[in-house]
Amino acid sequence: MGTKVNWREKRFSTKVIHGGQAFDKGTGALATPIYQTSTFCFETVEEGAGKFDKSIPGFVYSRGGNPTNRALEEKCAIIEGGEDCVATASGMGAIGSTMVGLLRTGDHIVTSDTLYGGTDVLMRTNMEHFGIEVSFVDMTDAENVRKAIKENTKVVYLETPANPTMAVADIKAIANIAHEAGDIKVVVDSTFAPPPVQFPLALGADIVVHSVTKYLNGHGDVIGGVVIGKSEDIAIIRGIGVTKLNGTPPSPFNSYLVLRGMKTLDIRVKLHCENAMEIAKFLEGHEYIEKVHYPGLESHPGHEIAKVQMNEMYGGMLAFELKEDINGMSAFEAGKKLVNNLTIPSIAVSLGDPDTLVEHPASMTHASVPKEEREKIGITDGLIRLSVGLESAEDLIEDFENSFKQI
Ligand SMILES: Cc1ncc(COP(=O)(O)O)c(C=O)c1O
Repeated sequence: MGTKVNWREKRFSTKVIHGGQAFDKGTGALATPIYQTSTFCFETVEEGAGKFDKSIPGFVYSRGGNPTNRALEEKCAIIEGGEDCVATASGMGAIGSTMVGLLRTGDHIVTSDTLYGGTDVLMRTNMEHFGIEVSFVDMTDAENVRKAIKENTKVVYLETPANPTMAVADIKAIANIAHEAGDIKVVVDSTFAPPPVQFPLALGADIVVHSVTKYLNGHGDVIGGVVIGKSEDIAIIRGIGVTKLNGTPPSPFNSYLVLRGMKTLDIRVKLHCENAMEIAKFLEGHEYIEKVHYPGLESHPGHEIAKVQMNEMYGGMLAFELKEDINGMSAFEAGKKLVNNLTIPSIAVSLGDPDTLVEHPASMTHASVPKEEREKIGITDGLIRLSVGLESAEDLIEDFENSFKQI
């Protein structure tokens, strides 16, 4: 039966369903049960001692490990091609735990100048509290990473495509540069390009993080995260970051929901990509649009890298800017009107849900990034971010057409 199969050797659509999820030994249940318990009992003190010192496999206490959480970790390690994974209560829990696991006072990080707002705050302010130095570079040119690396650089951290400008960084080139320079861990936040779109570990990254909240769960009802990489790195991140300093494992109930959501990851993500491509093409051809940022379009500066790195799928996220002076209105005012008149997309942060979500980064996700910094990296006042959902692409395009008419 399934327990004897090495799911790592199977194709993506098979491993995403079966990986990490052997049927339950106690009951035969096919769906992984929700082990909603804080602690685990032992028959004897000797058994307890063996589970504590890990000479006997098993679980002790759910902050350190839980069977439902473990199934999620195993599935994620299998689909990303990593040795191990640790699941966390949020994407920020995954990123923060990775940082406190890998870095020590006096270390230096090179990171991208375009990051998710929460990560940007972590890099601009929180790291300083721990005596960690941070350099921000434009990662669309891998040579900028080489120039920024110093003797004490321990981590190169990037998002690609980046939130919200969709800037693409070349993972392979950056990983080569970092590894040539020394013992530097390359950490990629691949939330915008979930498997099967992008596999950062296969491109040379050491660690991949995801906000599971987004595509991996895919149903808009969970906050969660995962960190995947080599066993020795994951053990440190789990030990220092997740179970001790931060104390941020997920709840077993959330892991159950993510396991359930991930069964359809392959088909969902492919449809997100197809819909996003259709909408990107429609928007690019519209008279009111100044620019569409989607790696699948030939006009995107990172298109050639994305073609290879994103397996010609490009993801479900895009951003666009309206022209200045549409019927006497600024791009910002016209953008607000456009968004307010849409009837299918919901105005909300987050992404990767079945529902299309639209947001205005300058006033929502990136409001905490200083205006001058924002504009330098392309987050203009008129930029609108769209997480393209699983509705009919035709209905979404009709909705945009109607909304454009009302500007
Ligand atoms: C790219 C990216 N990374 C990390 C996060 C943080 O994830 P979470 O909200 O699950 O903590 C987000 C949230 O939007 C994100 O967009």
